[in-house]
Amino acid sequence: MSVGTSSAPGAARAAGDLTGLGIDPDDLPDGLVVADEHGHVICFNAAARRITAIPAKDALGRPLDKALPLEDLEGRRWWQLTDPYGGLAIRVGQPERNLLLPGGREVLVTVRYLRGEPTGPVRRVVVSLRDTEARRRTERSHAELIAVVAHELRSPLTSVKGFTATLLAKWTRFTDDQKRLMLETVDADADRVTRLIAELLDISRIDSGRLEVRRQPVDIGAAVGRHIQASVAAGQPADRFLLRIEQPLPALWADPDKVDQVLSNLIENAVRHGEGTVTIDITPAVSPREGEDTGTSVTVSDEGAGIPEESMNRVFTRFWRGSKRGGTGLGLYIVKGIVEAHGGTITVGRAPVGGAEFRFTLPVSTPAYLT
Ligand SMILES: Nc1ncnc2c1ncn2[C@@H]1O[C@H](COP(=O)(O)OP(=O)(O)OP(=O)(O)O)[C@@H](O)[C@H]1O
Ligand SMILES: [Mg+2]
Repeated sequence: MSVGTSSAPGAARAAGDLTGLGIDPDDLPDGLVVADEHGHVICFNAAARRITAIPAKDALGRPLDKALPLEDLEGRRWWQLTDPYGGLAIRVGQPERNLLLPGGREVLVTVRYLRGEPTGPVRRVVVSLRDTEARRRTERSHAELIAVVAHELRSPLTSVKGFTATLLAKWTRFTDDQKRLMLETVDADADRVTRLIAELLDISRIDSGRLEVRRQPVDIGAAVGRHIQASVAAGQPADRFLLRIEQPLPALWADPDKVDQVLSNLIENAVRHGEGTVTIDITPAVSPREGEDTGTSVTVSDEGAGIPEESMNRVFTRFWRGSKRGGTGLGLYIVKGIVEAHGGTITVGRAPVGGAEFRFTLPVSTPAYLT
């Protein structure tokens, strides 16, 4: 990138021209500060003004070290330290550094020294500035994720360790029934760890956009029927479920395993967190994607307390759980990730009878659309 032209006499004009590209420095996503051969600032673009909170009039025309008084993390003045105009004539710049602006705000800084000829005097100092806020936010959310995961893994493992240690130390002192009970707890806790790890792998795929959707025709009515049967087999009364299918449904091309994951999470939530009858409505829908005719909507509603209004925008976030009956709070985050990977949408609301109502819509996504 070369900045400024010899044909532009004024500081403002020289700064407003990224040679030959027809781009205004204000269009750049990163902060751009340029100083001329005398060390005076000739460009201080919009992103630089935003990141530093320094107005253009306080920067333009002033010496670089006054206009952009950067310090390193030890409090040393950066421009004096690096001395762009006086340092070694073979220097080409400074690699990315985390520096401080007045007021202690952090900023990522990269500097290039432009010389007319290889070891000649510096003609331009080009500084790019990047906000660290977004990066720090992701780092924070990773740190939080690790903390929660460690905590979630520790409690079942503590119980596994406790019961196995007790059994090994006092095997002969327990009756068969007591041993069976302890082993059942260990078994359930091992399942919990396995499930948590599977969920974490899903999350990492969702977060990195690697969630693969292998589409084939899916009979969604039959899939919901199977989930209801499984719930009944696991002890729920059959009359707790009401399945309504509005025919005719358009064909649905989706990943059957992932659709199963979505259904099982939503139905399990309605059973576990909700109350009363769990109603599942399957209807044809106008697809949220433009240019496609239709899709399929599935609504799962119950008659429990529902989700409080003020928490509705948080139910799809990681680890949010509203009730004590909650699991890890990852279910709905994964559900949303899967639905969106299919090009669909999911919403939460209040059911007519008062419980929670989750509705997701999947576009038809015929193979023709895929190719
Ligand atoms: N049908 C529902 N009625 C009332 N509250 C619900 C319902 N579905 C979800 N919730 C609330 O939303 C929270 C988040 O749900 P989510 O499925 O993400 O996590 P979870 O069920 O707690 O754990 P996991 O699904 O990971 O085992 C739940 O803890 C619960 O408080
Ligand atoms: Mg859940």
